[in-house]
Amino acid sequence: MMKINSYTELLKLVNYRYSEERDLFCDIKKLQQNFIGERQQGYSFDERLVAAYTLFYLPTNFSKWQLLMEKVQQEKEGKQIIEKLKGLCEHAMFIDVGSGPGTFLLAFLNWMDRPFKGQILAVEQSSVMREQAQRLMEAFFPKVLDNCRWVTSLSQICVQSDDRRNRRPKVLFFGHFLNEITGRKQEEEVVMTAIEKLAPDFIFFIEPATADIFYTQILVWRARILGLGDYLQMFPCTVNNNCDCAGPCTKGSWCHQVGKAEADEGYHRISQRVGIDRRYLPFSATIFRRKELSCGFRVDEVLAEDDGKIMGRVLRFLGENKAGFFLELCVSAKMYSYEFWSVEIQKRKLSKLYMEKLRAILVGDLIPLKVDRKLNDGRYRIVPEDWW
Ligand SMILES: C[S@@+](CC[C@H](N)C(=O)[O-])C[C@H]1O[C@@H](n2cnc3c(N)ncnc32)[C@H](O)[C@@H]1O
Repeated sequence: MMKINSYTELLKLVNYRYSEERDLFCDIKKLQQNFIGERQQGYSFDERLVAAYTLFYLPTNFSKWQLLMEKVQQEKEGKQIIEKLKGLCEHAMFIDVGSGPGTFLLAFLNWMDRPFKGQILAVEQSSVMREQAQRLMEAFFPKVLDNCRWVTSLSQICVQSDDRRNRRPKVLFFGHFLNEITGRKQEEEVVMTAIEKLAPDFIFFIEPATADIFYTQILVWRARILGLGDYLQMFPCTVNNNCDCAGPCTKGSWCHQVGKAEADEGYHRISQRVGIDRRYLPFSATIFRRKELSCGFRVDEVLAEDDGKIMGRVLRFLGENKAGFFLELCVSAKMYSYEFWSVEIQKRKLSKLYMEKLRAILVGDLIPLKVDRKLNDGRYRIVPEDWW
């Protein structure tokens, strides 16, 4: 099968052909400026910028789904959870809001190692993006194309009673979308109405990882969704009230995930030329599940079950010296309860192999641990446990 996140493959499939590579570089930089500055929506209606988006952002955003699934797999009973999720998704209605060139539709279908028998609903306002997504779907998943429907706005789904009554499990997915619409009150309302009317079994969001987005958007959307009373958060933690482990006192230690990008040489060459390093991908993912699932899928109970084990999620690396490693962790010591810990791990207690593995872990990864002792300055000395 053709590799979806390969620059070379995508180059053949974008709807606009660049005659000069430097024009592509220029467009990638324009997009980047747009995403880090005052966001304008025009890019998604411009043929050239949609091609640049597809060539530069699709490969890495595509990888984020896979990386998220790998992080979920690290959880307690993670393998079992992934299998259940796949079994459920096989027949589900997957609704991708702000699908762009089909980034996450492709990622989702690629992740399913079985034929997809469900339905896809892509919501995308721009016909240029929709055409690009259709072309990519046709190339990579021609058999699924018959089960795909494209609409221009989320409100269309809310009023179509077929979608509301559809008995399939529903997965409502937002990829780099909430970040785009936050602040536009009417669109925010449409999102909340869609959640209430469609009553999806799962809600996913994957958004850019910056401290500002975490505090001003992720936590705000999370509170809104939990405030409906019908949902529980199942990733990155199972806390269902305020997240206070990453408060202002823990500056720089906000919750997000980092993964290693899987992209081909062509892609790395382009990212070097535009000076945007994408070897490591930070992202901010959240998964909610409906309390009363239409499909009887029980997962947060497994995740939150109090088996006495202590797990710490890496928020930040503070460094390493001759004596040890220093990290900041979000620790779940008791069911549904999380605390912010600054920890040290002494090297003399670790094997060489263990140290190598410790150096390879990334922000957002989990470390099972035991407390050696609480130090006078409030930090904890910990010993990792049962790892790998
Ligand atoms: C940043 S792109 C994300 C594309 C894709 N999900 C990804 O992660 O690569 C956001 C997309 O949302 C679309 N969009 C923004 N507001 C929208 C709205 N109100 N209704 C439908 N689509 C919208 C834009 O046209 C754009 O294609």
